[in-house]
Amino acid sequence: MKTIEDTGYDAWLHYGKIKNVHIQKEYLPYFKNLVVLEESIILESAQKELQQAISSMLAVNLEVTKKMEEQSSVFLVTEKSYDLFHKQIGTDVTKQLSDEGYAIKSIGNKNGLIIYGKTNVGVLYGVFHLLRMMSMEMSLHDIELIENPKNQLRMMNEWDNMDGSVERGYAGNSVFFENNRFVQDLTRIKDYARMLASVGINAIAFNNVNVHEVETDLITAKFLPDVKNVADIFSAYGIKTFLSINYASPIQLGELDTADPLDENVRQWWKEKAKEIYSYIPNFGGVLVKADSEHRPGPFTYGRNHADGSNMLAEALEPFGGIVLWRCFVYNCMQDWRDRSTDRARAAYDHFKPLDGEFHENVILQIKNGPMDFQVREGVSPLFGAMPNTNQVLEFQIAQEYTGQQRHLCYLIPQWKEVLDFDTFAKGEGSPIKAVADGSMYNYKYSGITAVSNIGNDENWTGHTLAQANLYGYGRLTWNPDLSSEEITDEWVKVTFGTDPEVVNVISMMLLSSWRIYENYTSPLGVGWMVNPNHHYGPNVDGYEYSVWGTYHFADYKGIGVDRTIATGTGYTGQYFAENTKMYESLETCPDELLLFFHHVPYTHKLKSGVTVIQHIYNTHFEGVEQAEGLVAAWQALEGKMDSGRFNHVLARLQEQAEHSKEWRDIINTYFYRKSGIADELHRKIY
Ligand code: GCU
Repeated sequence: MKTIEDTGYDAWLHYGKIKNVHIQKEYLPYFKNLVVLEESIILESAQKELQQAISSMLAVNLEVTKKMEEQSSVFLVTEKSYDLFHKQIGTDVTKQLSDEGYAIKSIGNKNGLIIYGKTNVGVLYGVFHLLRMMSMEMSLHDIELIENPKNQLRMMNEWDNMDGSVERGYAGNSVFFENNRFVQDLTRIKDYARMLASVGINAIAFNNVNVHEVETDLITAKFLPDVKNVADIFSAYGIKTFLSINYASPIQLGELDTADPLDENVRQWWKEKAKEIYSYIPNFGGVLVKADSEHRPGPFTYGRNHADGSNMLAEALEPFGGIVLWRCFVYNCMQDWRDRSTDRARAAYDHFKPLDGEFHENVILQIKNGPMDFQVREGVSPLFGAMPNTNQVLEFQIAQEYTGQQRHLCYLIPQWKEVLDFDTFAKGEGSPIKAVADGSMYNYKYSGITAVSNIGNDENWTGHTLAQANLYGYGRLTWNPDLSSEEITDEWVKVTFGTDPEVVNVISMMLLSSWRIYENYTSPLGVGWMVNPNHHYGPNVDGYEYSVWGTYHFADYKGIGVDRTIATGTGYTGQYFAENTKMYESLETCPDELLLFFHHVPYTHKLKSGVTVIQHIYNTHFEGVEQAEGLVAAWQALEGKMDSGRFNHVLARLQEQAEHSKEWRDIINTYFYRKSGIADELHRKIY
């Protein structure tokens, strides 16, 4: 029979038995009992997590008490009981803590620990921090640490449909819905809430941004009691619930014949609706809206713009403290790619930038990291930093739609780090995207980071067990974008697979090299796509569904790439701040990895590395396959170092990846060999 460990279900909350006797000896005296003086649902979650983990790691039954005399204890304390602990905590600490922050301090004879949060959720985060340290077998002596989240909104977007499917889901079906209703057994939702809270996530929208007929009913009496049940589970872990809504709800629900945001009846309808939702869920977070995008309804139908559309909803939510997350993924999906006056990359900026300052205070624009659609490599969205008077939130995709669909290993933390650290120059040098997201650049009232989730009801949550690292890393990075990829990776491997140095080294190396490997055998130099239509898995150079009107990469017998320069192209480079415009506009300074995203060049164009574009395509595709095979070999060396369940599962995925990478190599290389007529300098076989 498979154990939980074998399936990977526990993910990074595995709390494996501490085998190292020295560490065990060090830890044991701390856990004589657990002092919790206050009562709250969130503290109860914290307390249960600690009890469960300590029982599993140290085989100790941790008693909860309100008595204070015991020396060797863990104390869970919030501001309410600060007075009792003021000597140990000190005013300095309280001054430094934000509402969700926490401090952990060793006290007394070294065998006491205080976990102090301004609020209950701070304590919960502190407990998870302590357990993470223990899973990594770190010493608990003389701890004195303070942590505050850098981002205000740290959110997950599930793309789950009520029929049980998950849009762009690569890990089974929904854990929320089945057969057009909520699942009966909510255990998995609770475990998901634990996983999310453990990395600091504090908001979730659990239905797809594409809201179909059945999900439109989520904001009605038919489903609101169920929404409330799920929201309560998340609340117990400090996570606020949002819903994706259908912009045309007043029509769809049969109550009005228009959804015009300036129509008085429509405005009134949404006000009533907000009141109804909040009567069920008083701490409801707000709504997430995909409007006028990929055939979804929106304000354009009525000749109104995005500010009109979102402000109307914002007014309805405002009395209850709710917010509107309004997506900027707006472009013409029927674009004729032969018409060089349109460029999908320009769309979000062209639509939204002119509206800066017109949005209500409780509207946040949700912007994908790049101007296209979560490609393995693309420029960053020029909207970041370009709207000083409009709240912005950054959207990543943890689901690996274009990055191997959780069949291939593609660890995305290094990619996200590049985005967060990218200097927009919005306020001169040193204006990184992370300062837009954390609200500091323009003092946004609301801001943060959100992402499309990669989970489903597969036993291991994420299809590929190693894809759990993307979910974990996303949370950690959102809490603190200054953490390095290496730190996050080291943590994840240790809490998931234990601290054996060989296991840690091998898996870390595999994860950290995987994005580049995937890029090598897929689409080159930032040109993007090259995937099969609709499902987006596997190579197809001309296949992407929205390129039916002509290829989006403009490859012909002479050259390849999209000219987005001001001088001769679509002018997209002009949407960045001057320093970046200059860098991308010129062939000399445009980074190689984005060359074909910004320029159309002959195949014989020499890259900074000294090789030609065509030779680079051949080289990276051959290399990528070798590297994918190298991942299999690296993993094989770990046999016997972990349970066979996870070992065999990952091995099978890596073998599949290595196999499929050959298909990518052969299709891409052959295509460009035939187009260009230029042979591989190294005379390797091109099929
Ligand atoms: C991509 C994806 C769609 C999704 C859309 C979105 O285009 O393929 O499935 O609906 O992004 O972000 O709204």
